[in-house]
Amino acid sequence: MQSIQFLLSPALFGGRPIRNRLAAQAMEINSADAGGAVSALVLARYASLAAGGWGIVVVEAVSVTADSLARTNGLVLNGRTIDGFKRLVELYKTANPDSLFIIQLSHAGRLAGKFSRPVGACGNDSVPRLSLAELDAIGSLHTEAVHLAAGAGFDGVEIKACHGYLGGELLRPMNDRPDAYGGSPENRARLISSAVAGAKAARPGFIAGVRVSLYEGLRGGCGTAGADDVIEELSDMRSVLGVIAGAGVDYINVSAGVPALTPHLTRPVAGNAFDLYHHFRYARTVKEWFPDTAVIGSAYSTGGESAATYAEENLAAGRTDFAGFGRQSLADPLFPRKLADRPNDIDYCTLCGGCSKLLKNQKPVRCTAYPCGEART
Ligand SMILES: Cc1cc2nc3c(=O)[nH]c(=O)nc-3n(C[C@H](O)[C@H](O)[C@H](O)COP(=O)(O)O)c2cc1C
Repeated sequence: MQSIQFLLSPALFGGRPIRNRLAAQAMEINSADAGGAVSALVLARYASLAAGGWGIVVVEAVSVTADSLARTNGLVLNGRTIDGFKRLVELYKTANPDSLFIIQLSHAGRLAGKFSRPVGACGNDSVPRLSLAELDAIGSLHTEAVHLAAGAGFDGVEIKACHGYLGGELLRPMNDRPDAYGGSPENRARLISSAVAGAKAARPGFIAGVRVSLYEGLRGGCGTAGADDVIEELSDMRSVLGVIAGAGVDYINVSAGVPALTPHLTRPVAGNAFDLYHHFRYARTVKEWFPDTAVIGSAYSTGGESAATYAEENLAAGRTDFAGFGRQSLADPLFPRKLADRPNDIDYCTLCGGCSKLLKNQKPVRCTAYPCGEART
């Protein structure tokens, strides 16, 4: 492995100093207690990441409402569950005060399970379409969740506008709603930019991020030119992200695809490095558009033993500011610490797809290739 100078060096993130440029991406583990409350398994997962020495850890998708869930045991942030989140932050910060602890806020939209309430924002299909008043109410739920997160002691929020969840569906060029949430980039980005503005107003220094799928690989989806287009044409996303940047976002976490429909775009598989290189290009594109906004690149786990080298290369060239690892953070939560101290001990993600299968089958998620990370040191 070439020497890794940038990846393990300190950086500023949202104006805050952090120890390295490794980000543990949001990874749903579908292990909440009843009502979406923080469980012992959830505490153990984040304790292991705190021990791992990540510069940034993003807590998995946490719903702003209990009535639209993608996972049977998904986390929910509301007045009833807040005490568990306070405990989670306390535990994390006691173990690792230097790392930034961000919570991803989400609404599953049409990807809510049949056990919940799937709802759509645009397009002709069988799920009920949200009204203007319902979208306004979901906007208020995001603002409430932002305030709860700030009060619980999180360093910031990441608004989920990727992977086909409601926030991402609204951004699509096919979203021709005739109301305040459709048509122009301003309208399509309204839910997300309002949440970002709310986060920036929540507390001085509170970090506001957004995660987008820059290209979804769907007709009329994010990263196309219009409702009838499927090929990649990113200029519309530049306009949409311009609105979100204007709301004061501190960072953009650049992902791709909709796992339920175009999974290999989101999580490239072994033997197809080309999909990973698309991620490098997507992060670079967003960095070129918004040089003053921090960028987290995605899908680095795909690089396996070369991931750190890829990250180093992209950081050195200014194509991204942080390298985001999803599956690798399950395979070895201690990855950053080991990268610095004992690289030969790293358990590299095998890209076996075991964690994704568990999630798809509504089971608690863990790495299926290695013993559960929590006990490792
Ligand atoms: C089990 C599992 C759970 C995931 N949960 C989330 C999530 O909560 N929020 C999110 O934005 N992405 C989620 N993702 C996507 C990952 O954050 C990441 O983008 C993807 O795995 C590709 O990155 P990697 O190659 O580093 O794993 C999940 C992926 C998997 C496999």
